[in-house]
Amino acid sequence: MSGSKSATRSSNRPPENGASSRGRYWRLLALSLGSAAVFAVLFYLWGRELFPRAAGRWGKTFPFVGAVTLTLAVALFLSEWFGFAGREVRKVRLAVRDFLFLCFLVLLLFFAAKAVTDLLAEVPTLGRGVPTRVYAYLIPLPAFAMVVRVLINSETSILFTVAASVLSAAAASGSWPALLFLLLSGTAGAARARRVPDRYRMLLAGVQTAPVCALAAAALEFSFHGGGEVLWAAVFGAVNGLLAGPIALAVMPVAESAFGYASDIRMMELSGAGNPLLTRLMMETPGTFHHSVVVGTLAEAGALAIGANPVLCRVAALYHDIGKLGKAQYYSENQAGAANVHDAMSPGLSRAVILSHVKEGVRIAAEYRLGDRITEIIAQHHGTSLLYCFLDKAKPMIQDRKASEEMFRYPGPKPRTREAAIIMLADATEAAARSLDRPTPREVDEIVTGIVNRIYLDGQLNECDLTMRDLHAVGRAISQVLAAVAHARVGYPDAGKGAV
Ligand SMILES: [Fe+2]
Ligand SMILES: [Fe+2]
Repeated sequence: MSGSKSATRSSNRPPENGASSRGRYWRLLALSLGSAAVFAVLFYLWGRELFPRAAGRWGKTFPFVGAVTLTLAVALFLSEWFGFAGREVRKVRLAVRDFLFLCFLVLLLFFAAKAVTDLLAEVPTLGRGVPTRVYAYLIPLPAFAMVVRVLINSETSILFTVAASVLSAAAASGSWPALLFLLLSGTAGAARARRVPDRYRMLLAGVQTAPVCALAAAALEFSFHGGGEVLWAAVFGAVNGLLAGPIALAVMPVAESAFGYASDIRMMELSGAGNPLLTRLMMETPGTFHHSVVVGTLAEAGALAIGANPVLCRVAALYHDIGKLGKAQYYSENQAGAANVHDAMSPGLSRAVILSHVKEGVRIAAEYRLGDRITEIIAQHHGTSLLYCFLDKAKPMIQDRKASEEMFRYPGPKPRTREAAIIMLADATEAAARSLDRPTPREVDEIVTGIVNRIYLDGQLNECDLTMRDLHAVGRAISQVLAAVAHARVGYPDAGKGAV
């Protein structure tokens, strides 16, 4: 267990395997090579300005060679910068997809910086009397830093801001005020995009960034060039901040679709009424739907207690058992008033049916494009925990060595983010509390403490960033909410034997 307590989401990824990971690898490789080629062409088109000394033995070929070597140098810088952080900084841990996304954004911003400082200054009505350098205050780094924070995490957004500032300042004639402004405005934008569950919050983050950008631009302009253009600098800085929200909102859907991210805004859309998959869950497996809603409430409370992502917890919990669709009768929460079909089945067959809901859930999540964050939580919500409900029944088989206890474990992986761990705890405690009829808060607390201890001692939380303090806080929050929910609830038959 680690001591990390950052309020951001972790970007850990589950291990990939099989044809889908190979397919993704080739797609990403093609995307990176294609991007490098596009940027080399753009560098070439800007060759005269970027490479003013087209002389020597390279002669006329210099702009072409210069564009290729500059692309390589920039790629090397970004590889070293993000590669080092991705390997060594615990909260960064970049997947290949994140790495490519960040490099793409940095280079995109580089050309946006060139466009703003060169092309915008050429517009006659704008450019009259305003020096080119002042346009550097319009470079839209705050918007891009906000996007990185919303889609990945805060640590990565700081790394991105530094790398993007250095390259974009170089594009804007490499001046000190431009570099300082970019560092400051990017940090300010990222800092104000902490929780963005809807478009309004994104626009608000930009509006809150605007005064900081205006102040910084005015101060830097005055310090380095005197008072002549201070007003223009302040106006450009403010416009930069105000446009950050709309630009981020325009970039995010593209990033979500091209790179497979799922922002909190997308999460809120997935939690809305009328969502086809949630409607199916409600109509075909009403017991599971109710269980998922309660797990979402518990997980949200747990996330709020430790500064994890409550939106992700609530929405991922709604979908965590979608793998039960089509097999509703095999799960206790859907058997109210009916016979338990497992009574007529062998433990081995019951095990196969129950374990399959994780894999099936991942398949349905991909089919409905729920995004990586929800899919990972579906895959991890049982970790490698034991299927306690059939272990007793399978004991004779285990004693006869016809089966082993390990066969009755979920395949994993274990939870790798705090949100996945919270959902595992909420899921298991909700399932266990079903056995209690109008329990007292004390009884609920004992059940929750027992489940939390069992999960911890079983090693299910070994791969996530949850501290002991976090664990106690999550347990306490779940216990409080569950006591209120369970007190007024009718119990399910055959319940209380662990989450399935
Ligand atoms: Fe569940
Ligand atoms: Fe489950």
